[in-house]
Amino acid sequence: LVSRAFRRQFVIPEFEEFTDKIEKFYYTCKEIDTGKVAAYIPQLERMSPNYWGVSLCTIDGQRFSIGDVKIPFTIQSCSKPLTYAIALNELGSEVVHRYVGQEPSGRMFNELILDHNKKPHNPMVNAGAILVLSLLLNLSEVDMSLAEKFDWVMNYFKRMSGGEFVGFNNAVFLSERENADRNYALAFYMRENKCFPEKINLRECLDFYFQCCSMEVDCESMSVIAATLANGGICPTTGDQVLKPDSVRDVLSLMHSCGMYDYSGQFAFTVGLPAKSGVCGGLLVVIPNVLGIALWSPPLDQSGNSVRGIEFCKELVSMFNFHRY
Ligand code: DON
Repeated sequence: LVSRAFRRQFVIPEFEEFTDKIEKFYYTCKEIDTGKVAAYIPQLERMSPNYWGVSLCTIDGQRFSIGDVKIPFTIQSCSKPLTYAIALNELGSEVVHRYVGQEPSGRMFNELILDHNKKPHNPMVNAGAILVLSLLLNLSEVDMSLAEKFDWVMNYFKRMSGGEFVGFNNAVFLSERENADRNYALAFYMRENKCFPEKINLRECLDFYFQCCSMEVDCESMSVIAATLANGGICPTTGDQVLKPDSVRDVLSLMHSCGMYDYSGQFAFTVGLPAKSGVCGGLLVVIPNVLGIALWSPPLDQSGNSVRGIEFCKELVSMFNFHRY
């Protein structure tokens, strides 16, 4: 790192100038007071709307953070690209996509629908994520109990974050499970349509899904996860090849087209970067071959995306040439 710094060989050589701008965007977005904190479970409803954190990590390990970057929050749907990545890594794209499509659904993330082939539309909506987890439980070579599978996935997340904070919020897990009629309905509907591999235990599979959504990160650790995706699957802070480059390519492609709920098309058009949002207000943004960004602010817009997070992305691409096209 040091010798590169002397030779000014970093992917963002003028890092301080860059982060001055990031700081400016941070304060601009801090002023925003619109949006509603998710209220479907009390643990999320209690979150302060004022939390606002931004962290970034470049593919060569330069870091910057501002705001509430050390406060844990549940990863929620930002786990979807990660569990999909693990499935690709372990089972290969061909096997995974026998069961789940690659098409945006154009509907709500928890809509009770399947595509024309009777598969969930993609791994970024609830149906697709539940299905991907059933593959990890049932098809994976690694034969483990549910407890061990939980550890195994958590350990994967930890490796992606370079060993930085990844936790688990049991109250959120229990609450998710208590308020899960739609996710149960999705799972039964998929079982009726023979979407799952054989021998599926629905209750275990849904528990696994709620557990993955209830993992905790903070902005700092999530920015390293984003940077691992930006860096072809190699964690920039440890050099650990966590994911295969082909798996990362598939994940980023679907984050680009399906990662931002029913706003994905507009986000791809205006911001032009692969991203995934979660109901807790987290937003994981990847600038391939450059850096990973984690944004966190609980108030959500009507599509379910963090209001400050979206505004930050717009500010970012209005100043820097990060839009893919
Ligand atoms: O399944 C649910 O309702 C949540 N635990 C996950 C929510 C989320 O972030 C929505 N994403 N697509």
